[in-house]
Amino acid sequence: LNAVIRSLKLEPGDEVLTTRHEYGAVVRTWEFAGAELVYAEPEELVGAIRPRTKVVSVSHITSPTALLLPVEEICAAAREAGVLSIVDGAHATGQVPLDLARLGADVHAGNCHKWLCAPKGAGFLWARPEHQRWIEPLVVSWGYGPGETFADRHGWQGTRDPAAALAVPAAIDAHRAFDLKRCRRLAASFHDRLPPVGTTPAPQMWASGLVTDDPDGLQRNLFQEHGIEVVVREWEGRSLLRVSTAPYNDGADVERLLDALNL
Ligand SMILES: Cc1ncc(COP(=O)(O)O)c(C=O)c1O
Repeated sequence: LNAVIRSLKLEPGDEVLTTRHEYGAVVRTWEFAGAELVYAEPEELVGAIRPRTKVVSVSHITSPTALLLPVEEICAAAREAGVLSIVDGAHATGQVPLDLARLGADVHAGNCHKWLCAPKGAGFLWARPEHQRWIEPLVVSWGYGPGETFADRHGWQGTRDPAAALAVPAAIDAHRAFDLKRCRRLAASFHDRLPPVGTTPAPQMWASGLVTDDPDGLQRNLFQEHGIEVVVREWEGRSLLRVSTAPYNDGADVERLLDALNL
């Protein structure tokens, strides 16, 4: 996303429409690029597109609140209005089926080290053919040249260790063997006791409000005292606990979390 945002050459007054649910590092990148950020609730985003909107920037699955956003609808509305749509798909890869053509985004960036379980450093940038020329690589190397492809220009960044990227096909094979339906059922079966924020929690992850004045301390305590790895973060003045259900989890794991929280 850095390559895309930094290639955009925003002009004063160009607005980037987004939500309060975006990943902080992406928000910082927009700020670095001088974007005028305009925020809307995910369900009000389509109606908030206006003449000064240059870009719509949304997560497919939000990081702090673990919500699945209606990206097809958002991207279709952006396209209709002649606005560039950028989807941060970091949590979507491997958690929801991904048909990039159907999704309708102009640009989609995904991470393979999260739900696909590939090594860290593996991810991808996808852009519609008509947008591939203006997106400059962050690092210029031998892949940069007039006849080179989008993949060449971005993929060749000097002498790098390609191991993480080369492991992605094996990760996809392993992922095919995961029982995702079970992971999704497991997540949903705890929604009544740990209610998700919002109405569209992601299939394998959800965030729930919690009363604590020390979210960092609570996260540390859950890990160090109970061996439970969850995220506890302050978001928009609330503390949110984010739970993920991976193929190696079962109901007893979530029960242990509830016990540790005295819930
Ligand atoms: C929604 C979202 N976007 C972007 C990122 C950033 O990914 P990376 O750590 O590869 O920079 C993350 C990582 O957690 C994320 O959750």
